[in-house]
Amino acid sequence: MQTILVTGSTGNLGRAVVAALATGGFQVRAAARDPGKLGSHPGVEPVRFVYEQPDTHAPALSGVDGLFLIAPPLDPEAAAKLNPVIDLARRSGVRRVVLTSALGVDAVEEAPLRRVERHLMASGLPFTILRPNFFMENFSTGFLAPMVRQGGIWLAAGDGKTSFISVEDIAAVAVAVFRKDSPPRECNLTGPEALDHAEVAAILSRVTGRSITYHALTEEQMLENFRRAGLPEGAVQYAANLYRAVRAGHAARITPDVEQVSGRKPMTFREFAQRKAAAWR
Ligand SMILES: NC(=O)c1ccc[n+]([C@@H]2O[C@H](COP(=O)([O-])OP(=O)(O)OC[C@H]3O[C@@H](n4cnc5c(N)ncnc54)[C@H](OP(=O)(O)O)[C@@H]3O)[C@@H](O)[C@H]2O)c1
Repeated sequence: MQTILVTGSTGNLGRAVVAALATGGFQVRAAARDPGKLGSHPGVEPVRFVYEQPDTHAPALSGVDGLFLIAPPLDPEAAAKLNPVIDLARRSGVRRVVLTSALGVDAVEEAPLRRVERHLMASGLPFTILRPNFFMENFSTGFLAPMVRQGGIWLAAGDGKTSFISVEDIAAVAVAVFRKDSPPRECNLTGPEALDHAEVAAILSRVTGRSITYHALTEEQMLENFRRAGLPEGAVQYAANLYRAVRAGHAARITPDVEQVSGRKPMTFREFAQRKAAAWR
C-alpha cells in the first residue's frame, strides 16, 4: 500500500484529498501545523509539519511514497517554503510529487506558484502539477462563506466568468494520478461551466431560499476590505492579481481534464450548492 504525505491537510482542498486517498486505499500521512485539528480517521496518520520549521520536514517525509503538496494560500513566499521540501522529498526517496498550483499560473513566469512549478519540473522527480480554477468551496467553507451568510458577495470580479471547481473533483484527480503508472505531468482543472458572480448569487439564492446579491466592488474597495480583515499586504496584492485575471476573462476557460484523468464529470455549481446547503443556514 502506498503512503502519501498531504500538506495543508486541515484546509479546504487538503481535507478532501486526505478523505479521497484514505477511502481510495492509500495510507495517508496528514501534515498539519496543528495535528489536533484533524481528529482521528481510519488510514490517516496525523503528523506535525510547518513550512517555516525545517526540523518538522524530515520526520513527515520519512518512508513516504508520494507527496501531495499544497502551498499556504495567497503566499508570495511560496517558492522559499515549498522548494526545499521538494529537494528533501527527492533525497528521501519519494517516488512522485503532485503539486497544487492554480489555473493560469503557467502564463506568468514570476508568479510565486510558477516558481515552484519550475523547481519541481527541474527536480528530476516524477511529478504532476494540478492547476485548479477558483474553488466552489470558497463560498461554503472558505473566505467567502461569512459574506454569503450575510446575504452578499462583495468582490472586484466585475462581470468576469469563472469555471469554478469543487475540491472533491480535484481530490478525485489526485487519487487517479497516484494510481496511474504514467499520469499526465500537467492538468488544468475546471468545472463544467463558467459563471459570473451574479449568476453564482442567483443559484445560492434559489438553493438557500434567501436573497444573496453580488456587489461588484472596485479593486481598491476590495483590497481595503481584505486589509481590514487582517490579510498581510503580500496576500492582498496576490488577491488583487487573481481578481484582475477574473475581470479580464482569464478564469472562464473550461477544460476536459477532470473527466479525462479521473473518469468522472466535474460537478456543476448548482449540484455543489444543493449538496452544501447546510453551510449557509
Ligand atoms: N481557494 C481557491 O480558490 C484556490 C484556487 C486555486 C488554487 N488554490 C491553491 O490551493 C491551495 C489550498 O487552498 P485552500 O483553499 O485549501 O486553502 P486553506 O483552506 O486556507 O488551507 C491552507 C492549508 O495550508 C496550511 N498552512 C498554512 N500555512 C502553513 C504553514 N506555514 N505551514 C504549514 N501549513 C500551512 C493550513 O493549515 P492551518 O489549518 O494550520 O492554517 C491549511 O491546512 C493554496 O495553495 C491555493 O493557492 C486555491
